[in-house]
Amino acid sequence: MPGKVEKRIEELREIIREHDYKYYVLAEPVISDQEYDALIKELEKLEAENPQLITPDSPTQRVGKDLTKDFKQVEHKVPMLSLANTYNEEELFDFDRRVRSALPEGEKIEYVVEPKIDGASVSLHYVNGYLQTAATRGDGTVGEEITANVKTIRSVPLKIKENKSIKNSLSDIEVRGEIFMKINDFRKLNKEREEKGEKLFANPRNSSAGTLKLQDPQLVARRPLNAFLYQLISVDEEFESQYDNLQLLKKMGFNVNREFKLCKTIDEVLMACRELEEKRDSLEYEIDGAVIKVNSVRQQKILGSIAKSPRWAVAFKFKAKQEFTTINKITWQVGRTGTVTPVAELTPVFLSGSTISRATLHNFDEITRKDIREGDRVVIEKGGEVIPKVVAVVLSERKPGSKPTKPPEVCPACGTSLFKPEGEVAYYCENTECPDQIKGRLEHFAARGAMDIEGLGEALIELFVDKKFLHTYADIYDLKNKREELIAIERLGEKSVDNLLSAIEESKNQPFAKVLFALGIRYVGAGAARKLATHFNSIDAMINASEEEISEIHEIGPSISGSVKKFFASEANIKIIDRLKKHGLNFSSQKEIIKENLFTSKSFVLTGTLSGFSREDAGEKILALGGKVVSSVSKKTDFVIAGENAGSKLDKAKSLGIKIITEEEFINMLNEAG
Ligand code: IVH
Repeated sequence: MPGKVEKRIEELREIIREHDYKYYVLAEPVISDQEYDALIKELEKLEAENPQLITPDSPTQRVGKDLTKDFKQVEHKVPMLSLANTYNEEELFDFDRRVRSALPEGEKIEYVVEPKIDGASVSLHYVNGYLQTAATRGDGTVGEEITANVKTIRSVPLKIKENKSIKNSLSDIEVRGEIFMKINDFRKLNKEREEKGEKLFANPRNSSAGTLKLQDPQLVARRPLNAFLYQLISVDEEFESQYDNLQLLKKMGFNVNREFKLCKTIDEVLMACRELEEKRDSLEYEIDGAVIKVNSVRQQKILGSIAKSPRWAVAFKFKAKQEFTTINKITWQVGRTGTVTPVAELTPVFLSGSTISRATLHNFDEITRKDIREGDRVVIEKGGEVIPKVVAVVLSERKPGSKPTKPPEVCPACGTSLFKPEGEVAYYCENTECPDQIKGRLEHFAARGAMDIEGLGEALIELFVDKKFLHTYADIYDLKNKREELIAIERLGEKSVDNLLSAIEESKNQPFAKVLFALGIRYVGAGAARKLATHFNSIDAMINASEEEISEIHEIGPSISGSVKKFFASEANIKIIDRLKKHGLNFSSQKEIIKENLFTSKSFVLTGTLSGFSREDAGEKILALGGKVVSSVSKKTDFVIAGENAGSKLDKAKSLGIKIITEEEFINMLNEAG
């Protein structure tokens, strides 16, 4: 009888959901793994026999088979803001003062203090109780749809738990939070990667963010991702407070971090922050601070937001974690542009989620200033950035007979005499054929933000350069003619060579802006490459442009334009580009044909602070619609968009009679055009 089967399927799903909740959210499993597997097997069997009964929220449907080609863009109904940071007591008290002065006098203000989870933010959209879509934060306004990947995370309910005590209808809600990896899971993952010779992740945060962008949900499912949720948003429902929302989220079956606290005064807030900081090392996951939120949703609304951050919340950043260790040796590393940087080789220590064995010493001036020497006992620190640094020398423990560090005279990789430009702190190796520069350029070319060639990392590049398979970027695309020779290299199996070769072919689809970034032109970072690519549309137009023409582009300064010109003046570089063109890389953007709209060929000046976007984001939107963004107001300007605290540009626009629009009018224009 189909009715009976249907009922059993529903029942099994409910039971499995409950066990998932107990295991992944509460961490209190009540059945053995075998018993759990038996339930899953029974459900799988019934669903296989009755495929018409499979629903997307079934626990068997967590891991999809389809590969994601491009992540679709999703616009956030409510922008995903970021938080302003505070670093000490005074700044926290300032925040409290600002909150008080913006609210009617005498209002009672309460705060919720939560840990600031160091992961990747996510937004989950549930309709009628079912997970519909999941998206990354992106630029805060538009994110990428990563539903298939998020569905694999067992602590994220595919269906919200029913609970009689919930009074709200919750038919259309957004739940936001953070995807993260537990420190132990991260270490295990990295160990496995090391054994397979794969590139290691720098920390749990990068590892989570990288995993979410994988194109194969089956691979994602094998990574130990987790999620903490902390924000509940509904367009048509009023909520009381953040504290109540956290309780509500818990009842709905979400994994809510339990370290949150309701505080009645700012002193209590400070205490809660300090307590969290003390607890930091004993937690299973990484936190980099506390988040303080005004509890009342009504008060949050009065406070609103400025630029990209709410006025009702702030982050309290913890001090960077520090450790003691010893510098065994100071080595000099040659970067892809020839800069020679000192590196401290350390006795390995565990710090903030990973084992540190090297730290940057920045430049020789830094070494002199801190008098850093080989053999010294030092304090190292990992701040916001991934690479740790040496903060201080423990002079009382300095070994007798230690000598001050000397600057290098020749390049450690090729022996060429080094050059130190006037007024710069860095030493340079000017030999473009220096093997370390060659390796550095190739690494940059293949890296994730550039051509994104999976598998072509530091170790393989080193090997291929030493074996003379690779010299310039263009050689990468000739590797396919050397398949047999590559397979013959010990360590590389047939399968991994084929995977690499197909990743290389795949990289030919990277858009022009990424190719331009991959070329590694000095000062041309990912952002500048995007601007240049949008402006010129093709590499030929760029090669033919004058230096003045390049530097007239909004936010492209003289050092970038000079460096671009110099790069294209080199015959060797032009030859490489020609070879890459023949291989089929994108050297022009297939510009979408943008329909004529309010922005077409109009020039805009942005001034003051916008509340919904950064100026950069607003600028990109204008460019995407065919408009231009210029930095100063002139008679040729068509519109000036004036945010809060706009200054002299606004006055100038008024005096020239240029049309001035508010942020709201700008948003209306965007909606009309797009
Ligand atoms: S609240 C408007 N709460 O920190 C409120 N954020 O710069 C914005 N984060 O992008 C977020 N733990 O990804 C909030 N308990 C927490 C958080 C948290 C981590 C992240 C979040 C956000 C960033 C803020």
